[in-house]
This record gives sequence, structure tokens and C-alpha cells, in this order.
Amino acid sequence: MAVTKTSAGPVYSDDVVRWFTLATILWGVVGMLVGVIIAAQLAWPQLFAGIPWLSYGRLRPLHTNAVIFAFGGCGLFATSLHVVQRTCQTTLFMPGLAKLVFWGWQLVIVLAAISLPLGYTQSREYAELIWPIDVLIAVVWVSYGIVFFGTVGQRKVSHIYVANWFFGGYILTIALLHIFNNIQIPTSWTHSYSVYAGVQDAMVQWWYGHNAVGFFLTAGFLGMMYYYIPKQAERPVYSYRLSIVHFWALIFTYMWAGPHHLHYTALPDWAQSVGMVFSLVLLAPSWGGMMNGIMTLSGAWHKLRDDPILKFLIVSLSFYGMSTFEGPMMSIKTVNALSHYTDWTVGHVHSGALGWVGLITMGSMYHLIPRMYGRTQMYSVRAIELHFWIATVGIVLYIAAMWIAGVMQGLMWRAINPDGTLVYTFVESVKATYPFYVIRWLGGLLFLGGMLLMAWNTVMTMRAGKVVVVPVPPVQPAHA
Ligand code: HEM
Ligand code: HEM
Repeated sequence: MAVTKTSAGPVYSDDVVRWFTLATILWGVVGMLVGVIIAAQLAWPQLFAGIPWLSYGRLRPLHTNAVIFAFGGCGLFATSLHVVQRTCQTTLFMPGLAKLVFWGWQLVIVLAAISLPLGYTQSREYAELIWPIDVLIAVVWVSYGIVFFGTVGQRKVSHIYVANWFFGGYILTIALLHIFNNIQIPTSWTHSYSVYAGVQDAMVQWWYGHNAVGFFLTAGFLGMMYYYIPKQAERPVYSYRLSIVHFWALIFTYMWAGPHHLHYTALPDWAQSVGMVFSLVLLAPSWGGMMNGIMTLSGAWHKLRDDPILKFLIVSLSFYGMSTFEGPMMSIKTVNALSHYTDWTVGHVHSGALGWVGLITMGSMYHLIPRMYGRTQMYSVRAIELHFWIATVGIVLYIAAMWIAGVMQGLMWRAINPDGTLVYTFVESVKATYPFYVIRWLGGLLFLGGMLLMAWNTVMTMRAGKVVVVPVPPVQPAHA
């Protein structure tokens, strides 16, 4: 076991945490820029016409992969490796391997950024990358698991803090999902066939897709919530008992909800109903967790007025609550009959993605960055406040536009004349959507603007500060 030591004893291995933090911001800017470009392409379809590698079909998966796995992923690596050391009061297990995890993950991102615009894809949503890159991901992910669980294993406190349960759950489940969804028979270096066929293939894909939401976009970020909200608010978690119930209920329920992506398909009807019922049940643990996070502020609500970092963290939970109320509603078959294929789904996705994943990551980064560079706070606190407001207005514009557009599309498609013919042609619904696509683009532009402000603030904080070496504390309270 390699442990960094100074004459004063072991120190936390924060190099990888720092690198992943910067990568989060870099890839956030890139991924959101691509999001703004594809939003513009939907509003003005002639944009980049005739350039294959800038076509919508190739940039869309680039956007989803960049924001989920590069921005969200690096945020999760940074925070999990920071939190696990503090809460276990030990340094990283195999810090050399952790550095390999960093470089391996950056290589995956660069390969994705090259292969997707060139048109190489497996055509599985959120698992588009071709098989050689999948193999690399599996190796990097297992190494990440070794570093994380090895650190938990060498902890100096007996208790395993709840944030680590969420991080651990997400690491194990993503390994399982990634490996089983990507079992392929290669036919060349760039092409392969899935071992599953027909409706089984669809079910495996959405078991993966839905749990990517549940574990990558949710459980990991709940790990962030359980550490950074109490730290920033300087209050203990509202109910530790509830956090444990939250963990087990959430991970058990998520696993069964995947079929709600396959309503009215060839999937047996009973399986669709199982998906719907588990999605409805999911409301309870999701809201339990949200309440636990928000109520952590009880007795300290005034801090919300003055502390923009807490605003990011707490408002992210409101969006989490919104999207986890909306999701169960959309899983009801009759509601899904209206929402599926419309922009309502895209609105739901981004209330979770921008509101929950985006804001909680940004809040956690604002907490982390000054500590990593030996400063008490970010270079400009006013810029954090401004970022919060630009981002929030951007989210509201984005999701409100998509909800209106989505419900309108659904209603237009199903409107029928007394003689049974359609009231509207498809192209009429496209024309009616145009203004909403422009509003969404504006919302996205604002959100990206906030991210650029964050990048500037980070560079200024780094320039004004210096890398700090933090010793592992010799005393062992119950948990950090
Ligand atoms: C500047 C911010 C962003 C903009 C302008 C933006 C824009 C878009 C657009 C235009 C689409 C395609 C929608 C369609 O096919 O009709 C999309 C899809 C998607 N985006 Fe974003 N996005 C942004 C940020 C994010 C973030 C931060 C995340 C995740 C953390 C995210 C996750 C997704 C996902 C998962 C999809 C696929 C949705 C689906 O298949 O239903 N986006 N985005
Ligand atoms: C209780 C929690 C949730 C439930 C039950 C749920 C349910 C649903 C349903 C029913 C759909 C539409 C499926 C379809 O018509 O094809 C959907 C789509 C989606 N949701 Fe959620 N949702 C939840 C929370 C979230 C959160 C928090 C996020 C993001 C952080 C999220 C991200 C997505 C994405 C990315 C899709 C689009 C998948 C695709 O078609 O590409 N969901 N969700």
C-alpha cells in the first residue's frame, strides 16, 4: 500500500481530486457547448448542413456522452475520492492506480470525442461507444472500484459514512450495467453485434439506460449531497436513520423500473406494468432523500440568503424533487401514451440533468476548489451568486419551453376529426414547436454562460492560491 507521507505523517492524496475537479469544469464547458449547438440545429436545421461530422445525429450522442460521462463522471470521481478519504480518515488506497484511473478516463473521453463525430457507434443510447473503448472503460472502472473500496477497507474509523454507501452502490452497479449491456461479438475493430436479440435486447438496453439514470445520475450525486450539504451548512444530516432507509429503498426499487421506457412495445404487458408500479413506488425514497437533504438546513435557513454555494446545493434538491415527481407520473401508461416521443421527455431529462446533476455538481465544486488550493473561499463570491441566477433562469427557460412544446405535440398528434382523419399534419406540429426551440436554445446559452463564469472563477482561485498538502488527522471522531 503506497501512502504519501511527510515528516508529520500521512497526507491525503488530493492530486487526482484536483485534476478531476478541473476536468469536470473543462468537460462541462465542452459538453454544454455541444448541447447549445444541437439546440441551435433543432431551431435552425440548416446549421452546418453538408458537414457530416457536425451533423445533428453525430453531435447528439457526443453531447450526451460529454455531459453525463465526462462532466458528471469527472465530478463523481473528484468528489468520491475526496469524500472517501475524509470520512474514512485515511489516504487513498493505491494512489498510483488512482492516477491511472484519471488518465484512463481522459483517454476514454478523447476517444469518444473522435469516434462519435466520425460516425462510429453501437447505436445503444448512452452506450454508443464501440467495443474497444468499452473494454478500456471496464478496465478503468474496475481500477476505480479497487481504489475506492480499498480506501474504505483501510479506514481508521469503524463506521462507513452514508455518502460512501451511495458512492459504493453506484460504482458496483455501473460496473455490472456496463459489462452486461455491452456483451458484443466483434466483427471488426469498429463494429460488433449484441449477443441479445429482439425484445430481450431492448430490455437489457433499458435496464442499463434506466439504471444509468438511477445510479450514475442519481445515486452518485446523492453521495455528494450527503457530504457537501452538511459540510457547507455546518449542520449534521437531518436524519441519519432516514439516510440508511433512503439508500436501501432507492437501490432496490430503481432496478425494476426500466420497462417504463418500453411502454406499448413488444415487451410483455405484465413487464411494462411491473416497470410502472416500481416507478410509482420510487417516488417515496426519492422524496425521502430530498427531504433529508433540505431539512439538513433546519435551524440554519438564514444561511441560504447569504451563501450562494448553499443555494446551488439546496435548489438542486428542489429540481431533484420535481423530476422524481414527474418521472413516476410519466411512467403511468396512459400519461406515457401522450409524453413518449415528445419534447416533454426532453424537458424531464433536463430538469434532472441541469437542475439536479448540474447544480449539485457546481455547488460541490465551489465547496471543493478553494479547499484544494489553500483558500478560504472562491476568488469571487459575487460571481458564484451571478452564476446561480443565470443558471436557474436558463433551466427554467429550457424546461418550461420543452414542457409546453411536448404537451402541445402530444395533443396535436392525437387530435382526430369526427371522420377519423388527423386534425394536424406532422409538419404543422414541427412548425408550432419552432418558437420553443429558440427559447430552449436561449436557456441553454445562459446555462453555458454560467459555466464559463465558473471556469474563470476557478482559474482566478487557482492563481491566487496554491496546492495544499493536508495531513490525515490522527484523532478519530465517529465520522467527518
Ligand atoms: C447548456 C446546456 C444544455 C443544452 C443546451 C442541452 C441541449 C440538448 C439537446 C438539444 C438535446 C437533444 C434533444 C432532442 O433530441 O430532441 C439534448 C439531449 C440530452 N441531454 Fe442535454 N443539454 C444541455 C445540458 C445537459 C446536461 C448538463 C446533461 C446531463 C448531465 C444533459 C443530458 C442530456 C440527455 C440525457 C439527453 C438525451 C435526452 C433523451 O434522449 O430524451 N444535457 N440536450
Ligand atoms: C423517480 C424517479 C424517476 C422516474 C420514475 C423516471 C421516469 C421516467 C420516464 C417514465 C421516462 C420516459 C420514458 C419514455 O417515455 O421513453 C423517463 C425518461 C428519462 N429520464 Fe426519468 N425518471 C426519474 C428521474 C429522473 C432523473 C432524476 C433524471 C436525471 C437526472 C432522469 C433522466 C431521464 C432520462 C435521461 C430519460 C430519457 C431516456 C431516453 O429516452 O433517452 N430521470 N424517466
